[in-house]
Amino acid sequence: MGKENIERFDHFVEDLLYNPERGYYTTRRAIGKEGDYYTASTTGVLFGYTFARYFSRIWRPPVSVLEIGAGEGHFAHDVVSYFEKEGLDYRYMILERSPAMRKRQESLLRNRVRWIGSLEEARGFQGIIFHNELLDAIPFRRFKRKGDRWVELYVKDRSSFVEGPEVDMDILPEDAPDGVIYDVSVDALEFLRRQVEVLQEGYIIIVDYGYERQEILERFPSGSMTVYHRHTVGEDVFVHQYEQDITYFVDWTLIRQWMRKLGMELVEEKPQGKFLMEAGIMEIVEELASRMGALDVFRLGNAAKNLIFNFPNFRVQVWRKSI
Ligand SMILES: C[S@@+](CC[C@H](N)C(=O)[O-])C[C@H]1O[C@@H](n2cnc3c(N)ncnc32)[C@H](O)[C@@H]1O
Repeated sequence: MGKENIERFDHFVEDLLYNPERGYYTTRRAIGKEGDYYTASTTGVLFGYTFARYFSRIWRPPVSVLEIGAGEGHFAHDVVSYFEKEGLDYRYMILERSPAMRKRQESLLRNRVRWIGSLEEARGFQGIIFHNELLDAIPFRRFKRKGDRWVELYVKDRSSFVEGPEVDMDILPEDAPDGVIYDVSVDALEFLRRQVEVLQEGYIIIVDYGYERQEILERFPSGSMTVYHRHTVGEDVFVHQYEQDITYFVDWTLIRQWMRKLGMELVEEKPQGKFLMEAGIMEIVEELASRMGALDVFRLGNAAKNLIFNFPNFRVQVWRKSI
C-alpha cells in the first residue's frame, strides 16, 4: 500500500478547476449551450446593456470599468457596444485568470478593451470594478460543526473526505447546529480585500448566487457545494474530475460583514431581477424593440423575462469607496 494522500479541499478544487494543463476552466468550453451551464451574460445583450446604462449613471465619462473573470467575454462585449452606441467615452479593462477564456475574450473583443495580468496593475484605479459569478468560481474550503467547534474537511486519495484538526476562524458561523457542513471561500474574501486595496475611488459591484447565512445553514446542512456537468446538477465532487464545474453558494451575510470591515459602503443590494428592472431593462427592451421585427421582439421579451425571473438566487451588491 502506498502512503495516503491528504489534501486541503480548496487545493483539490484549485487543481480540478485551474490546473494549467488539465483544469476545467483551462480546457473546457464551460459556459453556454456546448458547456455545462449558462450565465446571465450569455443570454443576449440585455444583461450587459442594462449594466452599461447603470454604469454610465454612476460614473462620469470616460466610464471606467474593470471586469474580473469575464468568461467568454459577452458581458464586456455588450457593455462596450452600448457605450459606443450611446457615444459614451469609456475605458474597459479585464482581469482573467484562465488563458483559454482570455483567448476567447480576445477574439471577441480585440482592441476595444485592455487586459491586465494582475490586480496589482490596476492599483490606483478610479471607476467600477464589476464581476458576475466570480466569487462562486474561487476554490472554497469545507468546515464541519462538531458540538460547538469546527473541524476542517480534507480530501483523502482524491476519493473521500476526512476530518482534519479543529479550527478557530472568526468567519465561521457561531451558532451552527452539530453536524452541519459550511462551505466558504477564504480566497474569495482575500481577493475582495485586494480589490478594495487597489481601488482608489469608485465602486465594487458583485453579482452572484447565494443566500443569507441562516438560510445557507438550513437549506444545505451537508454543505452548499454543487457540481455541474453537461447541464446536470450534482453533488459528487469525486466523479468527472477535471470535467465538471465545482461551486458553492455565496454567504451574503458574510460578504456584507467583510466588505464593511474593509471600510466599504453598501449603496444598494437587490435580487438580480429587481435590480435590472430599476436599472431600466424595460426601457432598453422598448428602445431595441422599436427597430425590430415581430419575431425578434418576441425573443427579446423572453430574454428579459428570463433575466428577471429565472435567476432567483442571484443578487447584486453595489459597494462604494469614497476618497
Ligand atoms: C463562472 S465564470 C463567469 C464568467 C462571466 N463573468 C459570466 O458571467 O459569464 C468565472 C470566471 O472567473 C474567472 N476567474 C476565476 N478566478 C479568477 C481570478 N482569481 N482572477 C480572474 N479571473 C478569475 C474564470 O476563469 C471564469 O472566466
